[in-house]
Amino acid sequence: MRKTLVAANWKMHGTKAFAEQLLAELNSGLESDDCSAEVVICPPFPYLGVVGAAAENAEQVALGAQNLSEQPSGAFTGEVSAEMLLDCGARYVIVGHSERRSLYGESSELVAAKFAAAKGAGLTPILCVGESLQEREAGNTLKVIAEQIQAVVDLDLGNTWQNAVIAYEPVWAIGTGKTATPEQAQEVHQFIRQQLGEAGPATQILYGGSVKAANAAELFAREDIDGALVGGASLQADEFIKICRAAD
Ligand code: G3P
Repeated sequence: MRKTLVAANWKMHGTKAFAEQLLAELNSGLESDDCSAEVVICPPFPYLGVVGAAAENAEQVALGAQNLSEQPSGAFTGEVSAEMLLDCGARYVIVGHSERRSLYGESSELVAAKFAAAKGAGLTPILCVGESLQEREAGNTLKVIAEQIQAVVDLDLGNTWQNAVIAYEPVWAIGTGKTATPEQAQEVHQFIRQQLGEAGPATQILYGGSVKAANAAELFAREDIDGALVGGASLQADEFIKICRAAD
């Protein structure tokens, strides 16, 4: 039985004081035992320490990061390695977010290398896949997602999907307030699970794209939706806590 995982992607938002305050509210709001979801908070790099320290005091909250270098170490100015994220207490790392693919030119091959670097160091990668509105309207959704997944499969890592999470984030639903319907999301999640072969049944597949407290429960009720990767709504403690509780 897959546990529900709700991950917060703060993107490039927050301050040290904001992070401390939000984590204090989350810890008090989540500590009751009626929240069965696993919770991951992915702040910007400078706040990994603050969030990591708060997460240490919260049984069901883990620290994640939003990106990493595919390189283990070296002369790569501005980059952050998997080992450094582990050193800060991170257990998860988002790879291949659509904003990194579109704004920073990350190819599926580079995303796959980052996935491998994360797994190789013992981090759990959250692999983001998803189509643009143009790709969906052209009927290419499943083709695009299959190609994004295949780039990781092609590395032939061995037990590729063990200790890995996938997040389906339709680009047209990110930050737009236009959420995929539960039917649309379920169709893609089912397809993704089929692409994973024998690892499919055990792999958590999250939905991301305008998840709110109002729509989380109907999404989580679908057979192949195992949680959410939340952007904007994760910056409001009460909203995010409601999303985490929507699985119960
Ligand atoms: O990684 C999650 C993010 O892309 C979704 O953003 O604001 O639509 O929840 P948002």
